[in-house]
Amino acid sequence: MLLQESKIIVTGGPTREWIDPVRYISNASSGKMGIALADAALSLGKEVVFIHGPIDVSLLKDKKYRSVSVDSTEDMLNAVLSEVGENSVLVMSAAPADYAPVEKVKEKIKKTDGEITLHMRKTPDILKNVAKLRAEEKIKNIFVAGFAAETTDIEKYAKGKLLEKNLDMICLNDVSKEGAGFGTDTNIITLFFKDNSKVELPILTKNDVAKKIFSYIESQLLSRR
Ligand code: PMT
Repeated sequence: MLLQESKIIVTGGPTREWIDPVRYISNASSGKMGIALADAALSLGKEVVFIHGPIDVSLLKDKKYRSVSVDSTEDMLNAVLSEVGENSVLVMSAAPADYAPVEKVKEKIKKTDGEITLHMRKTPDILKNVAKLRAEEKIKNIFVAGFAAETTDIEKYAKGKLLEKNLDMICLNDVSKEGAGFGTDTNIITLFFKDNSKVELPILTKNDVAKKIFSYIESQLLSRR
């Protein structure tokens, strides 16, 4: 399998978990990293799909790939599962919300003087669902890259996610560094691979980071042959 024979699925942006009809839990992902990846993938793959949470859709104007808009982490899981299959490359740069309110209150919660408590449940882990399908051999010939947004013990957590989510590659961004992570036009990424190798990239625009990521994915695919 080579990139040019692959369907490339990129995710980007945050997801939203609604508390009531007007309030939600989310994060500061802008979708820029995901868009840069989908842009870079366009000239490389057989087909490109960009699955994104709520982002500024004007960023997607004139893009030549198919975009799928989702809201919650559960929606993103379903969209990813309906797109991945044999000969696909999945790059998960989205920042899905990890927790959701146990239930969405139907009416707007009224403000009172006291404190309120929100009961939360874990949302499904998209990459772990893909890993399970891989382990059961329901999806063959797939390359999966994840991202890790970390602030402490960054290398340890990134390597942990690489193993736990059975990834082929993880792109670590230390989001406490200026010029890296959420909302910026640049990123500072270190790549870790299954074979324990590691590549540190300097600060680059998200477009250049995306090009580098795909050139490493291409060499990983070549080494599988
Ligand atoms: O969108 P930008 O403003 O450009 O910012 C880019 C970014 C900082 C969001 C991006 O570079 C990034 O780091 N994305 C991953 C953010 C994240 O959710 O990291 P995590 O360490 O919590 O998750 C690890 C991996 O699991 C990620 O690939 C994530 O997409 C995936 N995940 C997370 C939660 C979940 N329920 N299911 C998942 O599959």
